Amino acid sequence: MEDLSLHILDIAENALRAHASRIEIVISSDSRNDLLTIEVSDDGKGMDPDTLAKVRDPFFTTKRKKTGLGIPLIAQAAELAEGKFAIESTSGKGTRVKAVFRLSHIDRPAVGDMAGTVLTLIAGHPEVDILYEEGGMARSADWIQRRSSMNSRACRSTSRQSLQPYEQCSIRILS
Ligand SMILES: Nc1ncnc2c1ncn2[C@@H]1O[C@H](COP(=O)(O)OP(=O)(O)OP(=O)(O)O)[C@@H](O)[C@H]1O
Ligand SMILES: [Mg+2]
Repeated sequence: MEDLSLHILDIAENALRAHASRIEIVISSDSRNDLLTIEVSDDGKGMDPDTLAKVRDPFFTTKRKKTGLGIPLIAQAAELAEGKFAIESTSGKGTRVKAVFRLSHIDRPAVGDMAGTVLTLIAGHPEVDILYEEGGMARSADWIQRRSSMNSRACRSTSRQSLQPYEQCSIRILS
């Protein structure tokens, strides 16, 4: 069973391959309803309806030397944890992937190393805006101000622990 951070890395790599200039990753947990939700949206080239219809088939890929298992595996992981998987895409506009897990389900994968995933994405693709939000709460405005710059990179998180490695990364709130 793979950690969710690795599934998220795969989904974000799909977005990079689709030439996204902005990728937004949001993880939210809702203990009252026992849900953990992951959303990854991008503004890349999107998919036409035919491609979108095939995207959950194992071994469907438009890449050479690739297996085409990224999407089927996260979809299966969500379903094994009594959750749901959805993907929406519009050609020329972008793609949104949503995976919902039952938070307390014994087969729910661990979130894993999200700091590692976000840092890998930022370090490898400084030209892409990577937004990371966890917990659904924003940092205070002046905290963000102190760290903001005109740099194109961006990330945000509510957990101090996962923010520490991003000290060199500019933080900005887009909403
Ligand atoms: N965000 C996206 N934007 C545009 N096309 C996408 C996106 N995500 C997936 N696709 C399309 O769906 C196909 C299948 O994606 P999937 O992640 O399952 O496999 P893969 O990326 O081709 O291979 P693997 O993930 O195993 O390396 C991709 O090859 C691509 O054509
Ligand atoms: Mg993939």
